[in-house]
Amino acid sequence: MSWITKTLTSTIGRKIIMSVTGLFLCTFLVVHLVGNLQLFKHDHGAAFNIYSHFMGTNPIIRTIEWGLVLGFGFHIYEAFALTSRNKSARGAQGYVSNHAEQNSEWTSRNMGILGTIILIFLLIHLYNFFWRARFGSLDPDINNNDDLYSLVVSSFKQWWYVVLYVAAQISLGYHLWHGFRSGFQTLGLNHRKYTPIIKYAGYVFAVVVSAAFASMPLYFFLFTNEKGELAANAPTLIHAVASAF
Ligand code: HEM
Repeated sequence: MSWITKTLTSTIGRKIIMSVTGLFLCTFLVVHLVGNLQLFKHDHGAAFNIYSHFMGTNPIIRTIEWGLVLGFGFHIYEAFALTSRNKSARGAQGYVSNHAEQNSEWTSRNMGILGTIILIFLLIHLYNFFWRARFGSLDPDINNNDDLYSLVVSSFKQWWYVVLYVAAQISLGYHLWHGFRSGFQTLGLNHRKYTPIIKYAGYVFAVVVSAAFASMPLYFFLFTNEKGELAANAPTLIHAVASAF
């Protein structure tokens, strides 16, 4: 067995894979979030559809997408492997209480369940948007691009979809709350000055990213008509924020 295989299959090697893939997925979330902000533009989805068309056809993006598939694949596989190993290790300890609830944060102990909720969301999300964008037949918009915007708006007009999305973003927020800092820690970044900064940056990242994603289904469900146009009776604050886009 080469040293690379040995390292990558050892406990610490597997934790490193979790951290690297997790931090890579964090950068994906930022790119995805910034692209999705186009949904708030008052242009009947033209900018969002141009962006989606670019993401779906650009050869560099299509290549990076394979990295994303591998990143998600490794991260999810290792998460399940780690959870089952931890369970059997706890089983082997027999009747010895380790007072996990006193020794670790709630988010840290529930990374498995939070990750599973995100996985279920992801499967539904990919089928509804990604699969239908790439392999379905969507109507063209005014620029002759696939009108993915209308699909997003009609999805977010269904209450169960909004509930699923908001629940998934709460799980994502909790998952990132622990995961961001933990990723850096595993990679050996332990420093008297920088560790607290990374910890609080992780908290801000978790809250901002999940709240911004959750705002999208809530915005379309509560404040727009069936075409995604801002309703006249939406609160003044929403009008003010929306006009900034
Ligand atoms: C609530 C806000 C979100 C909206 C409106 C949204 C919208 C979309 C759309 C329209 C696509 C298809 C893009 C295309 O193929 O051109 C897509 C793809 C994707 N989404 Fe989301 N998304 C949201 C949140 C998320 C979250 C929170 C995650 C991860 C936890 C995620 C993961 C993905 C992945 C992995 C893809 C496929 C890769 C890609 O095409 O870039 N999305 N999303």
